[in-house]
Parts: sequence; C-alpha cells; structure tokens
Amino acid sequence: MLATWLTDRLGLTVPVVCAPMAGVAGGALAAAVSDAGGLGLVGIGREPVEGVQAQFALVANGDRKFGAGLLAWVLADRPELLDITLEAKPSLVSISFGDWQQHVQRVKESGALFATQVGTVAEARYAASSGVDVLVARGGEGGGHGRDLVATLPLLQGVLDAVDVPVLAAGGIGTARGLAAVLAAGAAGAWVGTAFLTCVESLLPPQGREVAFAAEDRDTIYTTVLDAARGAAWPTEFGGRAVRSEFTDTWHGRDDEVRATGAKPETWITWAGQGVGLLHESRPAADVVAGFAAAEQLLRDAASRSR
Ligand SMILES: Cc1cc2nc3c(=O)[nH]c(=O)nc-3n(C[C@H](O)[C@H](O)[C@H](O)COP(=O)(O)O)c2cc1C
Repeated sequence: MLATWLTDRLGLTVPVVCAPMAGVAGGALAAAVSDAGGLGLVGIGREPVEGVQAQFALVANGDRKFGAGLLAWVLADRPELLDITLEAKPSLVSISFGDWQQHVQRVKESGALFATQVGTVAEARYAASSGVDVLVARGGEGGGHGRDLVATLPLLQGVLDAVDVPVLAAGGIGTARGLAAVLAAGAAGAWVGTAFLTCVESLLPPQGREVAFAAEDRDTIYTTVLDAARGAAWPTEFGGRAVRSEFTDTWHGRDDEVRATGAKPETWITWAGQGVGLLHESRPAADVVAGFAAAEQLLRDAASRSR
C-alpha cells in the first residue's frame, strides 16, 4: 500500500483526492471514490442550499470520510454554503480562488483539514504562512478554473522546495504513471479532476461525455471567454480550461465583443484538462481509483532499476 501524509491522516488506501468539480462531483461520485480508498470531494459552486444538502446526504453517512470544495469568491455573498458544508462534517474542506484566508480558522476549528489550490510558488508561500493544512499545487494543464501561469511539474518542484506543509499535485494527472511521478517527486498525493469527469457516478450529462470522449490531448483551451458568454461572475484573473469548440475557436480573446453582442455557445461547455485525451469510456470510479493504485508497482519498478 502507498503510504503518505494524506493516507495516514485520512485513513486512505490510495493517495488520490477526487477534486471538487461543481456540477460534476456530487455526493455519489464522492462516495464511490471514498469507498474505493481515495477521498471524494463534493464540488460546490453557486447551487441553492437544498441542492448542496441533497448531495451531502448521498455521501455523509457518519462513517465515511469525504471532503468538500467551495469557491472563495462565491462565499463572499453566499456564506451559508460554508455553514451547511461544516454541518455535513467533512474531513477536508478546500476553499480556493478569492479571499479564502478568512475561513481557515473556522474550518480548522470544525476538525476538518483546510486545503487551497495555488498556481504559483509565491501563492504557495503565502498559503503556507496562512495556516493551511495542505496545499494543492495546480498546474495550468488542469481542467476547470484556476491559473494558467505555470505547468504542473515546474510548479510542483518549486512548491515542494519552498514550503514545509504537505503538498498535493494537480493538473493533468490521469493515470497511475502520473501519480507515480508526483509521489516520487515528494507530493503527498494527487488531486484529480478530469480523470473522474466521465465516471458512471459523475453528474456530467451525456452531451458532456460525448465531447470528452471525442477530445484529444491538444483539444483544450484556457480561456475567460466562456465566462464572459455565460455572464459568470468569476474574477477575470481566473480563466478556465475546457474542451475547444467552434465558439472558443471564434471568440477566444474577444470577451468584450462577446459581452456586447451576447454571443453564446451553442454546444455544451465541457470543462476539462489536457488529460481529457486519456478518457475513452464511462467507468465506475472504483475502477479509476484501482487504476491509480498501480502507481505502487511503477515506483517499485523504478526503484529496482536504480543502482
Ligand atoms: C469539470 C470541472 C469542474 C471543476 N470545478 C471546480 C470547483 O468547483 N472548485 C474547485 O476548487 N476546482 C474545480 N475544478 C478544478 C479542480 O479542483 C482541479 O484543480 C483540476 O481538475 C485538476 O486538474 P485535472 O482536471 O487535470 O485533474 C474543476 C475541474 C473540472 C475539470
């Protein structure tokens, strides 16, 4: 069994966290990942309180370890989302993208670990000095929102050298090979979104699955134009990575025009990272977690080759 700070601290058998993915990672996916030995997180965006509580009801059974991920900029006007999250008694709470610092103490006092995602070494230093329990070094190849300033490997190397808190690696980790690489580098585990996107238990609708399966590694784009078109209130410093479409091919970089003309994507927006090229079919989350566990053998093989 692969043992790290993360597995020891939370009683996991595989050092993999299923990232919070609003609208995709609900209670069923989180429960399936946790039951398979990883840690499943419920992703919370701007949903109504009842919708979030319904997702927690699918995963919180008193015994099972699970986590939750919230958006800091949403909490600024929806603070009740943190209240209902802590009522569900998660073992780990991630708050990212915006003013997350003000919530650190409250989350830790609830008994949960506090995590946040960082996209540069400077952000990692700041987060480590703000009392977070675990940092997520999230490279620009990752799916959904974040920064696209540094790719996962250079970011992870810089962050591991810069801070003393445990670090999880995120962005483009889709198979046991990726997990083995970041564990060998010194990460306490991987924080994985895209690889769980098309799981049987995910909330992604069929049209999103079709887009994901058709996409190759080069078919994603990091852009702010999709939020401009949706009228989403994401701070513009955070773009999102999604599967390219006719809409992004036409409008990427033209956010003001999109706002002025009201241009809208005609097809489903599928947020996904560069690892989308590795997805070919809907699989149970337990299979995906079991696949990641093969990192142990890869690391053993690598060790036996070194002399
Ligand atoms: C569909 C999708 C939705 C996401 N939604 C959120 C979210 O609600 N909150 C959050 O903190 N991160 C969100 N993310 C980012 C993930 O937490 C994580 O950084 C990312 O998935 C890691 O890269 P990977 O997709 O290559 O595994 C989302 C990612 C995806 C793919």
